[in-house]
Amino acid sequence: MAVTNGIPPLGFGTFGRTGSDGIDALLFALETGYRHLDTAQSYGTERECGEALRRSGLPRDEVFLTTKIAGDNCRRGRLIESLRRSNDTIGVDAVDLTLIHWPVSPAGKLPMDEYLPELAEARNQGLTRLIGVSNFTIAHLDEATALLGPGQLATNQFERHPLLRNQALVDACVARGIAVTCYLPLARGRCAGIPVIESVARAHEATPHQIALALSLNEGHIVIPTSGHRARIAENHAAAAITLTPADLAQLRTADRHARQIDPSWSPAWD
Ligand SMILES: NC(=O)c1ccc[n+]([C@@H]2O[C@H](COP(=O)([O-])OP(=O)(O)OC[C@H]3O[C@@H](n4cnc5c(N)ncnc54)[C@H](OP(=O)(O)O)[C@@H]3O)[C@@H](O)[C@H]2O)c1
Repeated sequence: MAVTNGIPPLGFGTFGRTGSDGIDALLFALETGYRHLDTAQSYGTERECGEALRRSGLPRDEVFLTTKIAGDNCRRGRLIESLRRSNDTIGVDAVDLTLIHWPVSPAGKLPMDEYLPELAEARNQGLTRLIGVSNFTIAHLDEATALLGPGQLATNQFERHPLLRNQALVDACVARGIAVTCYLPLARGRCAGIPVIESVARAHEATPHQIALALSLNEGHIVIPTSGHRARIAENHAAAAITLTPADLAQLRTADRHARQIDPSWSPAWD
């Protein structure tokens, strides 16, 4: 049984949503009903998230904010101060969730005992409500659990969409009570023209990208799509209302072609 650990299942990704265009898109997302923004120290969108939140007039506790600690800030003694700076940049006392962005960095391996105790300490100090990880493999999750104890990680955020189901890692997260947050849930717009997805989309009078989101949502996971276009921001939001049948789910699961889109040189191989 999948868990979301209190994280709103439909979030708005913020990669690329910089500057005034970014703020406009984020504000429109909040007006459309998204209540979860996914930023990172490396995206340059923390300021934009804070600005959109303030302009929306929504109470702070109605919008779930996630940020991610960049590689350099995982070095011993840096994490807590860097999260304070992120909170200041966003303009909040605390974020809801803080993730370690990658288990390794362009500069090489990051020893977990350098950053995980500091991540837990940041939560103890009230700088973040929840903690989690991103791009962690099963072995990384087990190493992290051995260090922190079970039940500490709210989520693992990694690439997952109909063309890359990453199912071994999904199952391992679910078995450990760690919520799955699917990044690139639209496979960056590559879900059109896939016959099984198109066929389910026609049956639901939906678009193929709405079906891509509905698949992970109906499986109990979290998705964080983004777009710079209002029509698509609304289209993606409406996907949360789609209920897929067991037959739809079975059909859609055959679209997996292990088509990984994000694979920087420092990225671990998926299980
Ligand atoms: N933890 C990590 O390492 C990591 C890595 C990558 C991403 N992320 C997070 O995941 C979020 C989502 O990833 P992503 O933005 O790279 O990929 P994505 O959400 O899968 O796809 C976004 C792309 O798809 C297009 N698009 C959006 N809605 C569409 C629709 N309804 N129909 C057709 N095309 C559509 C967008 O173009 P337009 O803007 O032109 O609409 C954009 O080019 C990021 O913003 C970020 O917050 C995390």
